[in-house]
Amino acid sequence: MIKLDYVISAQNLSKKYGSFQALKGISFRIQEGECFGFLGHNGAGKSTTMRMIYGLSTVDEGQLTIWDQPITLTPPEIKSRLGIVPQEDSLDPDLTVLENLEVYGGLFGLSRSQSQMLGRQLLDDMGMLEKEHDSVESLSGGLKRRLVIARALINQPQIIILDEPTTGLDPQARHQVWQKLRSLKSQGVTLILTTHYMEEATQICDRLVIMHEGLILAEGSPMELIARCVLPYVIEIHLPIQDVPEQLMKHAGRFNAEVLQVANGIFLYCQDGHRLWEQLKHWDIPQHACFLRPSNLEDVFLKLTGKGEEQ
Ligand SMILES: Nc1ncnc2c1ncn2[C@@H]1O[C@H](COP(=O)(O)OP(=O)(O)OP(=O)(O)O)[C@@H](O)[C@H]1O
Ligand SMILES: [Mg+2]
Repeated sequence: MIKLDYVISAQNLSKKYGSFQALKGISFRIQEGECFGFLGHNGAGKSTTMRMIYGLSTVDEGQLTIWDQPITLTPPEIKSRLGIVPQEDSLDPDLTVLENLEVYGGLFGLSRSQSQMLGRQLLDDMGMLEKEHDSVESLSGGLKRRLVIARALINQPQIIILDEPTTGLDPQARHQVWQKLRSLKSQGVTLILTTHYMEEATQICDRLVIMHEGLILAEGSPMELIARCVLPYVIEIHLPIQDVPEQLMKHAGRFNAEVLQVANGIFLYCQDGHRLWEQLKHWDIPQHACFLRPSNLEDVFLKLTGKGEEQ
């Protein structure tokens, strides 16, 4: 039997802020070398979980183990093997881009020339080498974000915790970051990622959990979750609500389609999308207002977290 190496295990992890229960007992295990994702609405508890792993917050209830070591507050010897991209940028605004990397490298015992060499390489990976002498203050939001990612890699960490790493990045930069993350994964580095981008989760995560109000609702690979939680095709109907035929629910029911009302329309989930598509004209629904596509992780998310309302 294959033995799986778990680098992080959490059992019944809970967190209270005053009387508010932000985490309500979550359990997960992260394997060495995988990319493990946390998805969830604002306030779901993703950053709270990340902060406990990287040692900004104590474990008060439940168990957290990192490399088989039980954790109350992640100690410096573990932190030195982690790369951390916090949700909020925390760069030194008085230093230049490269100086930020030098100072950070120094914290991990790198010499100035080592930090500079590695720093330049990382800036190049992030597509911002030409900014090395710019002051941090002058950087755009997306460039600051990329610098924080470069900084997290300077100690050549074995586990990298990325709390919304690509928020605010343009599409090219986002692909550049994904490329770097894939290359790190291929070298055996473990990645822990939170994101609001379903495409990012689908592209990079081997496994992920969907969190909601301090709980984990589902766990699996993106493909497993799609297969388990939603029907394979969806027809999106974008019509003013008064133009949606009253009989729609009845029609859909005859085809075993599931109907979900979301903010921008009605989604019909079904086994055979093309067959249902052919029916639309018989149901007085204009095809130009409809869109047929395979179901994806966003559909799983909408269904499980209740932002779409099942009809
Ligand atoms: N220091 C704190 N004091 C009090 N409440 C907090 C604190 N930090 C987080 N919370 C609350 O805990 C809950 C979870 O917050 P958390 O930051 O973990 O959410 P999140 O999933 O990261 O959300 P987002 O997607 O907005 O980053 C929220 O309701 C938040 O208001
Ligand atoms: Mg957060």
